[in-house]
Amino acid sequence: MNDLEELVQAAVADFAAAGTPAQLEDAKARYTGKSGRVTELLKGMAALSAEEKKTRGAAINETKRYIESALTERRQALAEAQLEAQLRAEALDVTLPGRQAGQGGLHPVSRTLERIEQIFGSMGFDVADGPEIETDWYSFTALNNPENHPARSMQDTFYVDMQDEAGRPLCLRPHTSPMQVRYARQHAATHAATDPLPEIRVIAPGRTYRVDSDATHSPMFHQCEGLWIGENVSFKDLKAVFSDFFRTFFETDDLQLRFRPSFFPFTEPSAEVDIAFAQGPLKGRWLEVAGSGQVHPNVVRNFGLDPERYIGFAFGMGPDRLTMLRYGVNDLRLFFDGDLRFLSQFQ
Ligand code: PHE
Repeated sequence: MNDLEELVQAAVADFAAAGTPAQLEDAKARYTGKSGRVTELLKGMAALSAEEKKTRGAAINETKRYIESALTERRQALAEAQLEAQLRAEALDVTLPGRQAGQGGLHPVSRTLERIEQIFGSMGFDVADGPEIETDWYSFTALNNPENHPARSMQDTFYVDMQDEAGRPLCLRPHTSPMQVRYARQHAATHAATDPLPEIRVIAPGRTYRVDSDATHSPMFHQCEGLWIGENVSFKDLKAVFSDFFRTFFETDDLQLRFRPSFFPFTEPSAEVDIAFAQGPLKGRWLEVAGSGQVHPNVVRNFGLDPERYIGFAFGMGPDRLTMLRYGVNDLRLFFDGDLRFLSQFQ
């Protein structure tokens, strides 16, 4: 091996040993830099004869080209390695499954409310909505509650620190019955020119509030009011409506209904409605599902109607209770805790 071949080998080894572009530039300077080994060789040619210069010069130039091409090669290799390292460091795993937005669903009580609306809708009932902050007059007075009725007490009803325009107290409605009066008065006013008045047939589902809290009572709960008023509406119709409703709701004809005499200031006579299943885990047990009755003449008068002419019935059901029965839930509070482990079972 002559000195030039040795030089090429040394340069190639030096370049290979350079691990970074900066080290490579240092190595390059040792060969083709101002005082590099190749440069020194070229300088040393001054002492040679013209003939020697020719052959030696050509050989050194060839050596220089070798070294330069080895340098270029190494530069590219380093640049590629650097790019690869960068790509590896910034790598995205595009096969990783994305973070999914959880799929929502309807609350079980909302499902019940939709079901109630759909079934009563199919029987020709309108669906009405009303305020949850309600006046004392709509909540009690208009519904024939005497001034000193215990339901008005602060032990039972949540009063709010506000009054209506007439300075009367406001409360969170303790039942949906105020909607009977609101809807009927509106209906009577709208159809004042029509005789006889078109029948009132409405349900009013919504949130209600009472000072009460245990496994079967929540301070916020749901009710669904119903009202059917006309010239010729009787308890018989109430029974037919309820029978149809509960059989459709629970998807069984094997269901008995019982009207148990009761008392509400706004109905006379009044009845609690119980149902009993002929099959299933609750078989044979009477379960209270609604309050009902023939609307009291004083209330019909507060509707703005003549109680000698218009008559009918009202009822109030508990959608939370119906949901518990339908799905076999034994603690009402589960509905309002917001625990997704419970709620997601109904999707
Ligand atoms: N408002 C009554 C309650 O909350 C239920 C009811 C409604 C009873 C309509 C009779 C008629 O208990």
